[in-house]
Amino acid sequence: ELSRKNKIYEINREAALFYYKNLLKKNSPGLAYLKQRGLEESVIRRFGLGYAENHWETLNTYLIRKGYDQEFICSAGLVLEKKTKDGFYDRFRNRVIFPIINTTGNVVGFGGRALDDSLPKYLNSPETSVFHKGNNLFGLNLAKKEIGKDRKIIVVEGYMDVISLYQHGIRNVVASLGTALTKPQGEMLKRYSDEIIIAYDADAAGQKATLRGLDILNELGCKVKVIRLTEAKDPDEFVRRKGKDAFLEEVERALPFLDYKIILAKMENDVRTTEGRIQFVKAVAALLKQIKSPVEVDAYIKKIALESQISEEAIKREIFGNHMYDP
Ligand code: UTP
Ligand code: MN
Ligand code: MN
Ligand code: MN
Ligand code: MN
Repeated sequence: ELSRKNKIYEINREAALFYYKNLLKKNSPGLAYLKQRGLEESVIRRFGLGYAENHWETLNTYLIRKGYDQEFICSAGLVLEKKTKDGFYDRFRNRVIFPIINTTGNVVGFGGRALDDSLPKYLNSPETSVFHKGNNLFGLNLAKKEIGKDRKIIVVEGYMDVISLYQHGIRNVVASLGTALTKPQGEMLKRYSDEIIIAYDADAAGQKATLRGLDILNELGCKVKVIRLTEAKDPDEFVRRKGKDAFLEEVERALPFLDYKIILAKMENDVRTTEGRIQFVKAVAALLKQIKSPVEVDAYIKKIALESQISEEAIKREIFGNHMYDP
């Protein structure tokens, strides 16, 4: 079992090297693509990015020539058997390749981006004996060395967000690989950091994933904050357009868990109407019920009373029930 896994790591490493060498070939469409997206060669090398050429069987042929078993090559998820059972073909073709490397330095899987608008935009390795999508964070192998004294880590959605921020000197960044954050990913984050900042895409999917991630991290007992991007669709676009300092300002201004939830509650309820104010306060009261620190609860009660024009007394009763005022 262990030797089997090691074999797959070995094949993955060979494949990553193969893709990397393809990327650096003359007139490589992959390199042109990454350059056009603004990536520098040093960063391309640091992340070991690559290119899968537009052919059906070049990787398979290469790995077979290197002496690897067809069965192992297939179980690494890099090559598939044809339905007609009379041959094999490479999974990744005409895509820029992002190797996913775990914290022990093994290549566990790959993401491949189309060079144009063809779908799927990203194709990933399938689940294999060494790759479980929800158990990995892209970039953690590099980010873990950059967590720093404040032990903050930023979580983004995509490969390009991590790499682009890295190039701009912001290196405590990992990607949850598009999926909403999973519990195992949350546990990894908790192990490496004391504060987690979610910086997902500005679209509806990103907002939904933010909420989900917040709840998971909060349940794990993590200190978590949220960046709401408004001037760009994702961190990659933001940092390219506005630069490092502007992004770091967003990090500084990131909203604590409760503030973010309160903003959402306010957006969902029209506090100009009586019904809206009632629903808003009820939603926030339900959140404040979960908070253990009396000081924190008190501070938020004051804030909510102001925003809703409902008395602090009534909000307290909504949170704690009437009994606490009984003699
Ligand atoms: P996005 O659609 O936000 O793409 O998906 P992106 O990262 O901004 O990519 P670019 O900038 O257009 O190249 C975020 C992440 O979700 C996963 C990938 O990990 C991607 O980086 N994803 C997305 C997939 O796995 N498959 C897809 O088809 C799309
Ligand atoms: Mn060729
Ligand atoms: Mn997205
Ligand atoms: Mn993007
Ligand atoms: Mn995006």
